[in-house]
Amino acid sequence: MKGIILAGGAGSRLYPTSAIYSKQLTIIYDKPMIYYPLSVLMLASIKEILIISNSETLPFYKKLFQNGNDIGLKIEYALQNKPRGLADAFIVGKKFIGSDDVTMILGDNIFYGNLNFVRDAVQNNIGATVFGYHVENPKSFGVVEFDDESNVVSIEEKPDNPKSNYAVVGLYVYNNEIVEIAENLKPSARGELEITDVNKEYLKRNKLYVKLFGRGVAWLDTGTPRTLLDASSFFGALEDRQGLKVACIEEVAYMMNCINRKQFKELIGKIPNSSYKEYLENIYNDRTLYQEYQK
Ligand code: TTP
Repeated sequence: MKGIILAGGAGSRLYPTSAIYSKQLTIIYDKPMIYYPLSVLMLASIKEILIISNSETLPFYKKLFQNGNDIGLKIEYALQNKPRGLADAFIVGKKFIGSDDVTMILGDNIFYGNLNFVRDAVQNNIGATVFGYHVENPKSFGVVEFDDESNVVSIEEKPDNPKSNYAVVGLYVYNNEIVEIAENLKPSARGELEITDVNKEYLKRNKLYVKLFGRGVAWLDTGTPRTLLDASSFFGALEDRQGLKVACIEEVAYMMNCINRKQFKELIGKIPNSSYKEYLENIYNDRTLYQEYQK
């Protein structure tokens, strides 16, 4: 299973910041936004990852992650010169995907909670697995309709009259049919290759599975100044209370055994003096935390 982080886009709702700065690089409390989706892929045991973005932003990601080796990953980069829609990621990423299956996460989608069910979906996916989340206002999302037996009946993009409160989140697990499906899509009325059209095609082929997030999982929006602030406050409160970080990719790499203890120590040695470094040193010294995680 390969992984894609789609991290370009216009970010128009964050103007004027987005005129000079990519949304996925903005800081969510104590680290760049992209750390959060990257750690979700890592927690799902995905080690080969493609980051897709525009020409101005790609160099920043390269600076942050290089080839991923330090955190036990293989990270590649690809250019999307224009935001042609979410499904365009599978055309841009065709060579990277090759004959594998692929999980895509949007660079501005933040999930928090026990995500073991994502790892299960990644390991057991047959056709397409997408995830539904109960939201107050489904009109701004792709919305799933279920019958009485919880089978998916339809998916609609930003409907005026939503048939349920379940929005499709920005995390999608696809088998290799995705490349052919994406290549045969026609742009929608707004001129984009729509991920909802991909999901509809899997539904037509009887290969779409929708798993619902329980209410113990947080799915945070980061599209507007207010929701950015809310996400920062959420993680600030949580991290300060626990003394543990969320989406600290070096820690995740160690806990998930992408790197061994010696490599973790070397990695910490490369980080400039900072509270982030001190945190990682504490994690290194806390054997209980590591042992607990391995259970
Ligand atoms: P969107 O929410 O569609 O849009 P956006 O982030 O560009 O922001 P705005 O609506 O304020 O203009 O994008 C979701 C994610 O996918 C986000 O991380 C940007 C990324 N994206 C791309 O990288 N390429 C694309 O072609 C599109 C449409 C989005």
